[in-house]
Amino acid sequence: MNVPFLDLQAQYKDIKNEIAPALLDILDKCCFIGGPYVNNFEKEVENYLDVKHVAGCASGTDALVLGLKACNIKPGDEVITTAFSFFATAEAIACVGAIPVFVDVRPEDYNIDPNKIEEAITEKTKAILPVHIFGAPCEMDRINEIAKRHGLKVIEDDAQAIGSEYKGRKAGTLADLGCFSFYPTKNLGGAGDGGMVTTNDGDLYTMIKAYKEHGAGEAGARTLELQGGPAETVSTSEQTTDLYNPYKYFNYVIGHNSRLDAIQSAVLSVKLKHLDKYNAKRAAIAKRYYEGLTDKLILPRYAADTKPCWHQFVVLSEQKRDLCAFLSENGVGNGTFYPVPQHRQKAFNAANSRVSGESLPVAEMISAQSVCLPVFPEMTDDQIQYVIETVNRFYEGK
Ligand SMILES: Cc1ncc(COP(=O)(O)O)c(C=O)c1O
Repeated sequence: MNVPFLDLQAQYKDIKNEIAPALLDILDKCCFIGGPYVNNFEKEVENYLDVKHVAGCASGTDALVLGLKACNIKPGDEVITTAFSFFATAEAIACVGAIPVFVDVRPEDYNIDPNKIEEAITEKTKAILPVHIFGAPCEMDRINEIAKRHGLKVIEDDAQAIGSEYKGRKAGTLADLGCFSFYPTKNLGGAGDGGMVTTNDGDLYTMIKAYKEHGAGEAGARTLELQGGPAETVSTSEQTTDLYNPYKYFNYVIGHNSRLDAIQSAVLSVKLKHLDKYNAKRAAIAKRYYEGLTDKLILPRYAADTKPCWHQFVVLSEQKRDLCAFLSENGVGNGTFYPVPQHRQKAFNAANSRVSGESLPVAEMISAQSVCLPVFPEMTDDQIQYVIETVNRFYEGK
C-alpha cells in the first residue's frame, strides 16, 4: 500500500465545485487585488477565531515581519523565540534587523520552555515570539505573564496552528498579535502563498494595515505618530474619487507590498467552512496513532487544556534514519521536521543571533529524533492502519 505524506489533490477534488465558480467570478470581474472576496474572508476569520481584526497579507513570513514592525521592533532589539521551528520564524526577526534569541524547548510538546524564557531577557529584549509548533499551543498564560512583568510584546507564530485552542480560546487570539500562514500544505492552505495577522488591538491593526501597503494613507500617518513620530494629518484638500485617491499616494513609513489576493481569499473562504471537519479528522487519526503505535516510540504529550489542530504528528525515535528509510521503502510518506534547529542554521551566527544559556540540548535532541507521520483529513482507515502496522513492524524487526 502507498500512503502519501499529504494528499492535496484528494482535498481539492472534494471541494472543486465550490471553488470553481468563485475563481471564474474573480476572473470575470478582474477584481484581483482587494475587493469583496478579500474583505469577506477577513470577516469570516474574525468570526471563526473570535478576534476583532484580521489583515490578510502575502505569506506567513510577511505576517511575522509586519507584526514585528507594528510592535516597533528595531535593529539591535532582541526578540526571544524558540530554537525549534521552521527557519521563517527567526528569519523574520532578522529581517527587521533585530536579534533572535533562541530558547530551548520542552521534550513533551516541542514548544518553547516558559521556565527558560526569563533568563534570556536583557535590557534589549522587546518581544517574545512563541511558535505553536505542529499546531500544539504553547503555555501562553505563563508566557504572557512573563511578558507583562517585563513590558514585552508577545507575537504568536500561528503558521501551523489554525483552529488550535488553548483554554478554550483559539490560537491567534492569545497574545498581542497572531501571525498565520496559508502555505498550501497548512491545515488551511491556499492555492499559492498567503498569510494574515490577527489582533484585538486597534492601534496594532492600524500599523499592520500601513506596513502591508507601503506605509500609506491615514494608517501610515497614524503609524508614524503611534511609533513616536510627529502627528500627521492626511491632506483632504483634494476630492477623493475612485480614479484619484490622494490618500493612496501619501506615504509615512517604509512598508511593504504584502497583500492577500482575491483568488487566495476565495479558495480560503471555501476551505474555512470545512476546517473544523478537517481538524477533527486529523484529531481522530492522532487518536488512532496513540492507541496503535508501539510504546518504543516517544509520542508528544500535550497539556489537557490545549486542543492541537494536528498540523503534524511528530514522534521521537533514536533510530530516526532507519525508521524513515523503512517507512519510505514500505510506501509510507514521512518527514523530518526540522532536521536543523534554528540556532544551528548556517545563516545565523554570533553577530546576528544569540543562544540563551550554554546550549539548547532539547531542541538538538528533537531535531535528531523527530519523525513526522502522515496526518491529513483524507486518509482512509486502511491507510491509518497501514502506517501503524508499518511503524510497529520496524520495531519488531520484521
Ligand atoms: C512555524 C512557521 N512559521 C512561519 C512560516 C512561514 O510561512 P510562509 O511559508 O507562509 O511564509 C511557516 C511555514 O511555512 C511555519 O511553519
